[in-house]
Amino acid sequence: MDKIDVAVTLGNEMGMIRKEQNVFVLEGKGSAYLLGIAPDGDIHHLYWGTPLGPEGITKLAGEWVEKLLKDPKLVRENHLREFADFGHNDLRVPALHIEQSDGSRLSRFVYCSHEITEGKPELKGLPGTTVNSPNDAQTLKLVLEDKLKGHQLELFYTLYPEWDALVRRAALKNNGPEPVHIQKLMSASLDFPAGDYRLTSFSGAWIKERQKLDRDLLPGTTRLESRKGQSSHEMNPFAMVSRGMVDEEKGEVYGFALAYSGNWLMEAEVYRDKNLRIQMGLNDFDLKWRLEPGENFQTPECVMVYSDQGHSSLSLKYHRFIRRHVLRGAWKDKVRPILINNWEATYFDFKHEDILRIAKNAKELGIELMVLDDGWFGKRDKDDSSLGDWFEDKAKLPRGIQGLADEIHGLGMKFGLWFEPEMVSPKSRLYEQHPDWCLHVPGRDRNEMRNQLVLDMGRAEVRDYLFKAISKVLEEGKVDYVKWDMNRPVTEAGSAILPPNRQAQTSHRHILGVYDLMERLNRRFPQILFEGCAGGGGRFDLGILSYHPQIWASDNTDGLDRIFIQYGTSFCYPPITHGSHVSASPNHQTKRETPLKWRHLVAMSGNLGYEVDVSKWTDAEKKEAAGFIRLYKEIAPLIQFGDYYRLESPYGSDRASWSFVNEARTEAVLFVFQINPPKSSEKPVPIRLRGLDPTKKYRFIGMDLELSGENLMDEGWAPSFNSDGGKFQCGHYRLVVSS
Ligand code: DGJ
Repeated sequence: MDKIDVAVTLGNEMGMIRKEQNVFVLEGKGSAYLLGIAPDGDIHHLYWGTPLGPEGITKLAGEWVEKLLKDPKLVRENHLREFADFGHNDLRVPALHIEQSDGSRLSRFVYCSHEITEGKPELKGLPGTTVNSPNDAQTLKLVLEDKLKGHQLELFYTLYPEWDALVRRAALKNNGPEPVHIQKLMSASLDFPAGDYRLTSFSGAWIKERQKLDRDLLPGTTRLESRKGQSSHEMNPFAMVSRGMVDEEKGEVYGFALAYSGNWLMEAEVYRDKNLRIQMGLNDFDLKWRLEPGENFQTPECVMVYSDQGHSSLSLKYHRFIRRHVLRGAWKDKVRPILINNWEATYFDFKHEDILRIAKNAKELGIELMVLDDGWFGKRDKDDSSLGDWFEDKAKLPRGIQGLADEIHGLGMKFGLWFEPEMVSPKSRLYEQHPDWCLHVPGRDRNEMRNQLVLDMGRAEVRDYLFKAISKVLEEGKVDYVKWDMNRPVTEAGSAILPPNRQAQTSHRHILGVYDLMERLNRRFPQILFEGCAGGGGRFDLGILSYHPQIWASDNTDGLDRIFIQYGTSFCYPPITHGSHVSASPNHQTKRETPLKWRHLVAMSGNLGYEVDVSKWTDAEKKEAAGFIRLYKEIAPLIQFGDYYRLESPYGSDRASWSFVNEARTEAVLFVFQINPPKSSEKPVPIRLRGLDPTKKYRFIGMDLELSGENLMDEGWAPSFNSDGGKFQCGHYRLVVSS
């Protein structure tokens, strides 16, 4: 023990990840992450925070060694660990739990070797963050071994230094002669030093997704999770941990986002002395994975980001990272078309002529893409039939999808179509032919939520059928856009093709199958823009975003509720990923009335779309909408590729505001939503902008006003709304650098 050499000599030639004796240093632009190999081979967590510099690292390493020396028996519970195995004097929640062939559940993984490589090794079968050039990232792979059983555990750390992002995952290989059962294998786990921590999560329900919720982390375990077979409306697989005072601009904050769309888990355990263990990965609920000798099991990726400058900077890092390293395909960097969707305009009740009428009117307003939603296939006049029968209903579309698509294309518009690939209606040809293709358990009821069952996507023949049936329609209609919906959770997670000892793999295999179909369709139709959806925003996660570069944020299109939903969504996910539509007033979900301008400014803060029969609008409404569409076309690059700043929270406030600034900081647009009228007695409170160039002057377009960036950010600027102007006054303000 006392032979440990603590002198940490810093040679930087190995790049941003390096090993200094028994300490690994992973340094981003504004962060450092340190881990150490303890004398017993355990991996200890040493630090995650602001960069330390050579002296700082040496000091920290020295303190760590001193702590080791004081604990010659190396009681695991006394240390901050990086990926806790189970059963040896650390009874905090483990990162893995394996049932060995002899029935024991103990494992002891110790450091064996490591590799540092440029870029990132490929992750097959799961959504993986990308590297666009090898310089984007470096990966540290730690190889650990359970000497008794011969199993190998690989821990991957891919560092994207530009965004202070660390992408973690784990893989377990059964090198022993007997099968083992994985009951838990997280993607990332680490221990924070003693302190007072807070957790910010984004929870909700259908039509109330991603509501921000802060709580203190108190002794005990907090589980954020989904057991619904989808990442879920109830809890988003993104959360933030903070220590001390944090707001938009100040404070240390740690983000955790999982690239997975099924049952997931984040655990936060505050243990004695206020140590905090955080883990994220696949949910251990209903999971038991039999791993045969020679087989390998890999976890999804967890994207961890650090900032010492509050929530705003954390969000910026996530936004830029997601735009560059999560989104893929032809639409990744392209301005998205303004779409109109017929769902709230017609629901299931439409004919060829209705869609064409909406499209023609939309085209006149400047809308670019007509999307035909649910109800075009089989015999689907309500939600009780035909899912799985992916051929057109000739009663509604006598000239077929092809005939309709041709006419829409003829108008100079793009054409999009809705599918719900993962589902089958009991009333369908598909179900008649293949009643065992759905997830079910023999002898048990099949739960028909929304009159539908979930297909067993773990089965290759199911995926092949869907690939063929969907491809046929997409080819015939020369379809430009697909809305991929998923309207019910997974229940009765049993598969007709798995033996009893693999049944508890069903849920994960199902999601792997969903990803496989998404990947195949992406490859077959690289030009198609896919939009994810799950009863609104029930599957808004990095996994889906890897295949579908935008997601319908919520079935709630109410102008006020949407402010909260989009605000919550923005903490992790950039506005280019938020599908947001102008709909009718009174709103169909809430019956609330909001002005057309308000609805536009909210929807224009993401990917603008419409969800209303614009042919029924008055001339004045059409004129107003056409004006906003012209404006959106001008500012879309700013909204979709600029930096987004939350300026004023809608929570507990009469006013919310946010802004977008381009990368060059020469242009900005500010949106202000005065939910309740300002009080006549109060002076308007200035809004302090962010992200501008303090040395430049900005002109407000269309106003006789020019202010310096410094002034706008320090003093702020106050828009004036009327105290007797009623609810829902709003404004957008465009700024350009003048000198
Ligand atoms: C749920 C989606 O979120 C809606 O936009 C719509 O597509 C319906 N499903 C159709 O069934």
